[in-house]
Amino acid sequence: MRLKNCHSFHDFRRMAKSRLPGPIFDYIDGGADDEVTLRRNTSAFDTCDLVPNVLRGVGEVDMSVTVMGQRLAMPVYCSPTALQRLFHHQGERAVAAAAGQFGTMFGVSSLGTVSLEEARRISSGPQVYQFYFHKDRGLNREMMARAKQAGIEVMMLTVDSITGGNRERDKRTGFAIPFRLNLAGLTQFAIKPAWAINYLTHERFRLPQLENHVGMDGGALSISRYFTEMLDPTMSWDDVAEMVREWGGQFCLKGIMSVEDAERAVEIGCTGIVLSNHGGRQLDGSRTAFDQLAEIVDAVGDRIDVIMDGGVQRGTHVLKALALGAKAVGLGRYYLFPLAAAGQPGVERALDLLRSEIERGMKLMGCTDLSRLNRGNLRCIERNWMDIEQYRSHQ
Ligand code: LAC
Repeated sequence: MRLKNCHSFHDFRRMAKSRLPGPIFDYIDGGADDEVTLRRNTSAFDTCDLVPNVLRGVGEVDMSVTVMGQRLAMPVYCSPTALQRLFHHQGERAVAAAAGQFGTMFGVSSLGTVSLEEARRISSGPQVYQFYFHKDRGLNREMMARAKQAGIEVMMLTVDSITGGNRERDKRTGFAIPFRLNLAGLTQFAIKPAWAINYLTHERFRLPQLENHVGMDGGALSISRYFTEMLDPTMSWDDVAEMVREWGGQFCLKGIMSVEDAERAVEIGCTGIVLSNHGGRQLDGSRTAFDQLAEIVDAVGDRIDVIMDGGVQRGTHVLKALALGAKAVGLGRYYLFPLAAAGQPGVERALDLLRSEIERGMKLMGCTDLSRLNRGNLRCIERNWMDIEQYRSHQ
């Protein structure tokens, strides 16, 4: 399979699958428990239909948005994800460069494999730093200081990973870093020699955001152990309020899902929230960000930028989220499979395809700029949206 034959998320996913050792593919592709939320993330978009307007003069369309003070040339950004050099040796470098070229934002993870400083030098676009709150307060302070020093535009604290999700695919393969695989997992590596050669002939795998604090030699660190042993499960709103004050800039919480929490994020001075269930990788059976969007936008949308991620595979998914009131939409697997399939040209092709789909969708919707898109453009199957007035009267 070749890059030029990739025309959609599904093609990239297939190409990534043919290149990656099974355990790595499953790490990206999988979710928690029965993967119900993982599947729902995408199928939720099918519960709302677009209602187009016609004859509106759509020769030129403007798909730029401003979110958390950042001007993005397109309404999607590459959300921070872990371990990218494991998927392709270019890793975060490829994603940073591609996002910069498309005039959009990208994130570097606490579990990133390229330093946040290097990524900052590569991309001309705004950069998010994804922060995990560790038990080790020294590590937290160092990460904040480094991010400030590097000129990171947006601090994004992930709040839905207070303990590891039950990723059964990873349990079966023994996926961990550095690799400590069970026999079935090892066989999978042996049948993908091209990946193995590539991995072994490029620079050593590192976690530059953490390495001063985490001994990687003492044994394999599974994602679940990282969450469970290194992150601080006592993290509270007071801790976050202090971080927001200390950061003193654009600060966003990723993984907010309830109106109550959205209100608190506003109260402590956050400038953005990302509705997210972590790609269905944490709490299975939890609601999708898309289903929860209207409720949250109605409650806090005039005071904070509401963003969403999860399951986005098409330009029309993005348009539906924006019509409900999201300011921008985060991508995860949508750019990770192209990264795994073909490195930077893969990510660029994926962003280019999505940009074309958004542009085509806007034209077919009779919409010349995204601020014109609203709930009048949507009809949704009857759903149990909470009555916000009722909610407020209970406060
Ligand atoms: C994951 C974390 C690391 O979902 O974001 O695997």
